[in-house]
Order: sequence, then C-alpha cells, then structure tokens
Amino acid sequence: MSSTAQIEYPPLRSVPYHVGIIMDGNGRWAKSRGYIRHAGHQAGVNNIRPVLEGCVEFGIKVLTIYAFSTENWNRPEEEVSGLMRLLGLTIRQRLNELHEQGVQIRHSGRLAGINRELQKQILYALDVTKNNDRIILNVAFNYGGRSEILDAVRQIVADGIAPDALTEETFGRYLYTGDLPDPDLIIRTGGEYRLSNFLIWQAAYSEYYATPTYWPDFDKSELYKALVEYNERERRFGRVLDAEPTPV
Ligand code: IPE
Ligand code: IPE
Ligand code: MG
Repeated sequence: MSSTAQIEYPPLRSVPYHVGIIMDGNGRWAKSRGYIRHAGHQAGVNNIRPVLEGCVEFGIKVLTIYAFSTENWNRPEEEVSGLMRLLGLTIRQRLNELHEQGVQIRHSGRLAGINRELQKQILYALDVTKNNDRIILNVAFNYGGRSEILDAVRQIVADGIAPDALTEETFGRYLYTGDLPDPDLIIRTGGEYRLSNFLIWQAAYSEYYATPTYWPDFDKSELYKALVEYNERERRFGRVLDAEPTPV
C-alpha cells in the first residue's frame, strides 16, 4: 500500500477482524454538490482505495463492502446500467494494483442476473487474486441477505443434507460468505439505521456503527473513529460477563 499516512493514530486495544461497510449516501453527496447521481457513484468507487488502505494500516483482515443490493435493480434503468459499467471499469483499472498490493478479492452475491461479460471479469478477478493474503476485499454485489439464505437452503436440499446433520456452522458454509468469519463491526455511512438486507444471518452479533457522513467523504479518520467506538463496546454474546460467584 502507498505510505501516504501522515497522521499517527494511537494503537487500538482490539481491532475487528472483519468489517462490513454499507457504502450509502453517494446520491445525496452528488446532489449536495449539484452533480448527477452517477458522479456520486464514481466518487464512491474512488473512496474504496483509501479506506482499504486504512483497513490494512489498522490491522483489519476482511473488509466486506456493500456495492449493489438485489433491491437496487429497482432503480432507474440508467442508474443500474451505470453501476454495472462502473464495476467492469473498476476491475479493468484497479485489478493489477490490488493484486500487487496483496489484496484477495472475493464476491458475495448472485452471479446469475449479472451480464455474462461482467460475470467473466468478476471470476477472473477472484482467480487472479485467490492466493493473496494481506487483506480480503469481499465485494457484495447483486447481494441480498434473503436471497443468500434461499440459495443456501436450495443447495442444502439439493445436496441431500439430513435435517439432523444441519448445524449453524454447516449452514454458514453454504452462504455466499462461505468460510469467512462473521463481521465484528458493521459501518453504515449516509445516516440510516438499517441493514437493508446486508449480511442478515452473519450480523447476528455484529456491532453496528452509523455515521451521517456520505460514503465519498468517509475517510481514514472516520474509519478510526468507528474503530474507537468499537473498542468501547462490550460484546457479551448473550452472556453475563461479571457473573456473581456461585454461593457455596
Ligand atoms: C449507495 O449510495 C450506493 C448504492 C446503493 C449503489 P446511494 O445511491 O444509495 O445514495 P443515496 O442513499 O441515494 O444518497
Ligand atoms: C444499501 O443502500 C445498499 C448499498 C449500499 C449497496 P440503499 O440506498 O440501497 O438502501 P436503502 O434503500 O436506503 O435501504
Ligand atoms: Mg442509499
């Protein structure tokens, strides 16, 4: 990664292993500047690089970015085709650099429904970077949590898994995220307090952080702020942490 970091961030006690980001607010960012929505999406794509660099710097091992949801097909045709073109362009322009930096690219979502040429580009990017281990960049594209669960159930039935043999671990491996651990922290930019169908199974015990900052303005210092807040959370997973001693 380029060493452009001028600010020294104090070390954190605990760093989330897996961070998911709902990159929201591109449209409003563009509108506030008098630009068309597509300019916001372009600025949003340009913001992935510095945030990914921040993740590497802070020691995050997996970054999942929500780039296109199954519900986003309901946007105007022109915006949808613009977003599709943007992914293809980004792969063409950035793949070499990401590969050189040791980024392993993964895809979470339905390939079916995406045009053939773009499917091939996605599969190529996954294949080229599959042995990289600096950080995993998991791109949730044509992703929906409900369709992910449905697809998993369909495959489980097709594989003839016996009902009694189905555990949460087995089920998790059938999801698009496969062997990735659940996200520790989910960040949403753009001010909304909802998951919008993002990692709905995997986020069961994730910490949630929302900021009004639009995605194109979410920089390394904003990421650090989210990590500081994460450090202040007490993750209990349903337990009592300061349980009283059992009376004798
Ligand atoms: C997020 O920004 C990007 C995608 C959903 C593809 P939006 O396009 O949703 O931006 P807002 O929410 O309209 O500002
Ligand atoms: C969530 O943003 C999806 C992505 C960031 C890709 P949306 O803008 O689609 O979510 P809603 O419509 O506000 O719930
Ligand atoms: Mg939005």
